[in-house]
Amino acid sequence: MKIFTIKQELKTFLNTKKKENKTIGFVPTMGALHKGHLSLIEKAKNKNDIVVVSIFVNPTQFDNKEDLVKYPKTIENDTKLLKSVACDVLFFPSVKEIYAENISSEEFDFDGLEHQMEGKFRDGHFDGVGTIVKTLFEIIEPNKAYFGEKDFQQLQIIKKMVEKNQLPVKIKGCPIFREDDGLAMSSRNTRLNKEHREAAPFIYKTLKKARKKFGTESAIKVTEWVTNQFKKHPLLDLEYFTIADEKSLETIKDKESNKKYRAFIAVFAGEIRLIDNIQLKK
Ligand code: PAF
Repeated sequence: MKIFTIKQELKTFLNTKKKENKTIGFVPTMGALHKGHLSLIEKAKNKNDIVVVSIFVNPTQFDNKEDLVKYPKTIENDTKLLKSVACDVLFFPSVKEIYAENISSEEFDFDGLEHQMEGKFRDGHFDGVGTIVKTLFEIIEPNKAYFGEKDFQQLQIIKKMVEKNQLPVKIKGCPIFREDDGLAMSSRNTRLNKEHREAAPFIYKTLKKARKKFGTESAIKVTEWVTNQFKKHPLLDLEYFTIADEKSLETIKDKESNKKYRAFIAVFAGEIRLIDNIQLKK
């Protein structure tokens, strides 16, 4: 596996590959890799000649300083994992290499997608995500890029950015990977203490029950039910639960037959913020 920390060196390397008509699959990450990331890399390997993974803990997408400082950094283990799945290229730049002296975000208009859910609770988050993903796309110029559906809103926002800027990259969403007890895989899970780790599968269990209820009950009733489940829970604090249209990400009032819906949730387990989502059947 080749490792680059300097963008120009990576660009030069990839240009020689593009001249040989090789296709590039790209998996952007913030490191602390888990099986969910590895599944994205596997998908990328199946469909592209060369797979590039980036590891960059992007400061501009964190609205919470402590979350940024405490974000797990496990580069040695990550490198081992990437080699074990035969990743071709790791891009591991410094903050200075990406932002020079100006650590700030571009302002984006994602046609309102950015004002829902995570956008309401994490100020400036999606401007930060848009800034880093666009920058990485400009450096790598991938044919395809892979994102997990755990961050479903992020996935829709990236698709919107690509469409609005007519970027020549295909965005591929990949299903959520879960631990055996149902907890969605996330780099932040390693920060949960024992008590909160044991409590956390309640999130997905509740999502599954909500999906079942949505078959016979209104979105409002299901939302009330979920809110009550968390009120009764001694360890988990609900930040939001909402049933939204998959495309607009707007909270729905009534079910319509030609639309796809998803339930989205954010929960605090102590100081650790966990998100998850589930596709709904009508
Ligand atoms: O999903 C993530 O890990 C990050 O938001 C991403 C897409 C790598 C951008 O920093």
